[in-house]
Amino acid sequence: MYEFIQKFHSGWAYLAIVLLVIAVVNSFLGKSSNKEFTPKDRKIALFGLIGTHTQMLIGLILYFVSPLGSASFGQMSDKALRLTSLEHPLVNVIAIVLITIGWSKHKKAVTNDAKFKSIAIFYGLGLVLILSRIPWSLWF
Ligand code: HEM
Repeated sequence: MYEFIQKFHSGWAYLAIVLLVIAVVNSFLGKSSNKEFTPKDRKIALFGLIGTHTQMLIGLILYFVSPLGSASFGQMSDKALRLTSLEHPLVNVIAIVLITIGWSKHKKAVTNDAKFKSIAIFYGLGLVLILSRIPWSLWF
C-alpha cells in the first residue's frame, strides 16, 4: 500500500507540475497580448486545477501511510523529516488553496484581462510555493 501510494505521488507530481506550468505560462501570454479568454484557456486552467487537487489527495493519503509523514511529525531538528512531515504538506496545501482561489476569481471576473490576471497571479504563487518545498533529494 505505502509503496504504491508513494510511487503514484512521485509520478503524478510530474503531470501536476507540467499542467500547472502550462496554465501559468498561458495566462501570462494571454494577459500580455490582450487576448480573448477562450474555452481553451478555461480548459488549460481547469487541468492545472484538477492536476494539483489530485496530487493533494494522494499526498493526504501518503501522509498517513508514509514513515516520512505523520509518523515523523515533531522531529523538527531533522531537516529532511521536517520537510516531508511538516513544510512540504503545509506549504502545498496553502499553494492549492491559492490555486483554487485563482480559479474561482477567474470565474467571477468579467473582462478577459481580469480572468487571465487571476490565473496568472494565484496559480503563479501556487507554483512558486510548490517548487520551494519539493523534497528534491527523494524525487531525483
Ligand atoms: C501539488 C502538490 C504536491 C506535489 C507536486 C508533491 C510532490 C512530491 C514529490 C515529488 C515527492 C517526492 C516523491 C518521491 O519520494 O519520489 C513528495 C513526497 C511526499 N509528499 Fe508530496 N506533493 C504535493 C502535495 C503533498 C501534500 C498536500 C501532502 C500531504 C498532505 C504530501 C505529502 C508527501 C509526503 C508525506 C511525502 C514523502 C513520501 C515518502 O517518500 O514516503 N504531498 N511529494
